[in-house]
Amino acid sequence: MQIESGVSLKPFNTFGLPAVAQQLVRIGGDADVRRVVDHPQLGRAPKFILGGGSNIILTRDMPQLVLKVEVAGRRLVEERPDAVIVEAGAGENWHAFVAWTLAQGWPGLENLALIPGTVGAAPVQNIGAYGLELKDRFESLDAVDLVTGRSVTLGASICAFGYRDSVFKHDLAGRTLITRVRFRLPRPWQPVLGYLDLERKMRESGVAAPSPQQVFDWVCAIRRAKLPDPALLGNAGSFFKNPVVTPEQCRDIIGRDPEVVHYPLPDGSVKLAAGWLIDACGWKGKAVGGAAVYEKQALVLVNRGGAIGSEVMTLARAIQESVYGRFGIRLEPEPVVV
Ligand code: EPU
Repeated sequence: MQIESGVSLKPFNTFGLPAVAQQLVRIGGDADVRRVVDHPQLGRAPKFILGGGSNIILTRDMPQLVLKVEVAGRRLVEERPDAVIVEAGAGENWHAFVAWTLAQGWPGLENLALIPGTVGAAPVQNIGAYGLELKDRFESLDAVDLVTGRSVTLGASICAFGYRDSVFKHDLAGRTLITRVRFRLPRPWQPVLGYLDLERKMRESGVAAPSPQQVFDWVCAIRRAKLPDPALLGNAGSFFKNPVVTPEQCRDIIGRDPEVVHYPLPDGSVKLAAGWLIDACGWKGKAVGGAAVYEKQALVLVNRGGAIGSEVMTLARAIQESVYGRFGIRLEPEPVVV
């Protein structure tokens, strides 16, 4: 096992924020995790699990031992009449995995195309886009307990998936390292087209019964038009969660701002578009140092060059205060702030 010291994390987080890991170990499989757990010093050290670094904001150097997950591999597990089960190593790039499943003739993940990050990070925040969430296609995952070194297989109920949320952000945070994830792709394939942007694509193209590849291409086009490519402009996707309010709160806001974008949820509560709220407060294009609000989508903060974590957080807090001042709503950051 190689222990690297003084490793710059700048290339390992999509926001491109500077931070140094005192110690870093690359994890290629369960055995690597066990070597760390059994190590006389590293075994008991606090640990931070790093995936694709697409959902973290680094505000300081890392005193913890950083475990960089690089578990590779993807395979067909089982073809059943009602579903195809596929598996990928936690270190696989998410988008490349989605494209691979389509190329194999196993559709079902196309709405989640182009989401940055790794397969192993996907369950942690239950990634979602265009009417589909990871939990809708989840079968099970393998993980290693960082205290006992035991390998476990976890099903959906233990993972406790919620909106951009799971047990891995709470009870199991820093406690389990996900090594492999399995997905259930239902047969026959049914497109998920309810999302407004996709309905618009359907209308504009005149395609009434799109193929999986067509949906994949639409999702990629919608994302490319709205969201910055982290390879060109550092970012961590949506910076805030879309807040959920009571119908009374929503009516109150509509009374003052009839345009507010809102979606009623099955349980009677209402989800508001945080991007709209931030936009309405005039934040698009505003900056603190190298950190700025993306011009095309106010929900995304970007690194215009040389941003540091404290600038990102100063900007984020100013946005939170102004949205609270105008709408009485507290926005919650979506990425993990370290
Ligand atoms: N809007 C504005 N101004 C803005 C931004 C948005 O008026 O500056 C309005 C839009 O016009 C639209 C509404 O707000 O009517 C919602 O915007 P959009 O459809 O782009 O989706 P979103 O709520 O901003 C969420 C997810 C995204 C996901 C998309 C598509 C969250 C926090 N974000 O964004 O996820 O890709 O829906 O499903 O739930 C991510 O989590 O990192 C992410 C990018």
